[in-house]
Amino acid sequence: MSIADNLALVRATIDAACTTAGRNTADVVLIAVSKTRPLAEIREAAAAGQSDFGENYAQELRDKVDEAAGGASVGLLLTWHYIGSLQTNKAKYVATRAALVHDVDRLELAEELGKRARVARWTGDAPTPLGLLVGVNIGEEPQKSGVMPRDALVFAAAIARIPGVALRGLMCIPPADADPIPHFERLRALRDDGLARGLPLRELSMGMSHDYPQAIAAGATFVRVGTAIFGARSLRGLAPAGQAPDGAPA
Ligand SMILES: Cc1ncc(COP(=O)(O)O)c(C=O)c1O
Repeated sequence: MSIADNLALVRATIDAACTTAGRNTADVVLIAVSKTRPLAEIREAAAAGQSDFGENYAQELRDKVDEAAGGASVGLLLTWHYIGSLQTNKAKYVATRAALVHDVDRLELAEELGKRARVARWTGDAPTPLGLLVGVNIGEEPQKSGVMPRDALVFAAAIARIPGVALRGLMCIPPADADPIPHFERLRALRDDGLARGLPLRELSMGMSHDYPQAIAAGATFVRVGTAIFGARSLRGLAPAGQAPDGAPA
């Protein structure tokens, strides 16, 4: 199956999940997770109509965005999402290139992203704040990063006050080998609680290749799908040559 065939299948699955859930397909954005995949494959996906791509190595994102933009045709039309955890000292690679950073779990990181975004993106009368999603450790797993659910809304409120960034929503990766549905529903409930308190938490980023239909049923507005589009990552768990892995999981 080609990337275009895979994309068509994923989109059909998203449509079906939306129909079953009584949701509008336009309310679910498919992010093609292109980490470790070459630009040629991104161009192939873009040619098949895919606009949103997700990366979780900071330098890989920088290199791909710059190369895609320099190569004209598709580069400037694409929307890039940084979907992994991010070291503060690498915020500079991401702040001016990504539209959204999905896994923010430290105030220091949000402040650095805001500082970088403010300098580079806020030009005169056309400010474009960098969108942030709070990464929530929804399964409360000790070894995982992410804000604990009980702290998430206070943390989100603090992010909402940082200049240069705009709070957009919540993100999670449920524990491996567990039924993801209760975790998706818990994130949705947390989001609804935040909305009721006036926090701008429209987006729910949840669902990967093996569980995105369930995530859509629970209210996902972004699904992050890699393997089902590009195939298995041959270097699973390894960063591209010379780059430290910033994101998890691999
Ligand atoms: C945060 C995050 N979301 C989504 C994905 C995509 O996962 P899959 O290839 O299972 O669709 C990855 C892959 O590494 C990821 O790190």
